[in-house]
Amino acid sequence: MITCSAPGKVYLFGEHAVVYGQSAICCAIDLRTRVQAEEHDSIVIESVLGTTGLDQEVHPYVSRVIEKMKAFGNIRGVRIHIDSELPVGSGLGSSAAVTVASIQALNQLYSCGLQLEEVASMGHIIEREVQGNASPTDTYVSTMGGVVMIPERRRLNGLECSIIVGNTGKFSSTRELVANVAKLRQEFPDIIDPILNNIGRMSHLAEEHVNRYDYETMGKLMNVNQGLLDAIGVGGAELSELVYAARDAGAISAKITGAGGGGCMVALASKQDAGKIASAIRNKGAEAILTSNTQEGVRLE
Ligand code: MEV
Repeated sequence: MITCSAPGKVYLFGEHAVVYGQSAICCAIDLRTRVQAEEHDSIVIESVLGTTGLDQEVHPYVSRVIEKMKAFGNIRGVRIHIDSELPVGSGLGSSAAVTVASIQALNQLYSCGLQLEEVASMGHIIEREVQGNASPTDTYVSTMGGVVMIPERRRLNGLECSIIVGNTGKFSSTRELVANVAKLRQEFPDIIDPILNNIGRMSHLAEEHVNRYDYETMGKLMNVNQGLLDAIGVGGAELSELVYAARDAGAISAKITGAGGGGCMVALASKQDAGKIASAIRNKGAEAILTSNTQEGVRLE
């Protein structure tokens, strides 16, 4: 039996702007999805969603992984078991993590010889097939780990501070939020384009501060990024409440991560303040997850 795991991610900078070719900075987090794979007499996929065979409704990502990996290995029957520390559909890259970990588990089990770049790119193709439109960010960061500048794919120094994720538990549709930004941009190009450009410029400015471990300066920029996300209409009352609760409790920075609307926010804090910030988020009735940056992308367990 083979077990592989892959991490989720948060956006430190640049969600939405990255859709228009601007730079973003993403950070792999130490919350992982584990996939066990072993040869079996039929195809079985087990997760919290249920136990199925190839099933494009219940397990669309893993079903596509198995179908595509048949081109590289002699896959007749396989049992796949999935466990995840990542809340599903909350913008932390849970679908990328399960896709990448499944590709790598089959790659190892059947000695297919795929390199990491190929794992990431197959992961992206599958995300695009299932979601209709997905940037390569999630699958790339889940495969490679670390802190990465996108689309340049430049690896920055790892974050040494604590990362606290606050989950509103409110569903947010990435597709809808991306479409709303596109509409706003069409209506007010002279206003929205400079905002998106400035978000991209912030990623470039922040790169140096990430590499210098200067979280105070980087945090100021993250807070400005939050303001600009609000300006393009992807904020929300629940997210703002958590962002301000985290800042009031001493976070270095706090902003939305991912598409916004609902989903998650992320705060950075010193290790000694992290617990206080998690409590402040929980006091608002939301789930708080204390985590950190991981340098490890997909790995064999
Ligand atoms: C969603 O997690 C991030 C967005 O930038 C969309 C994307 O990059 O595909 C909003």
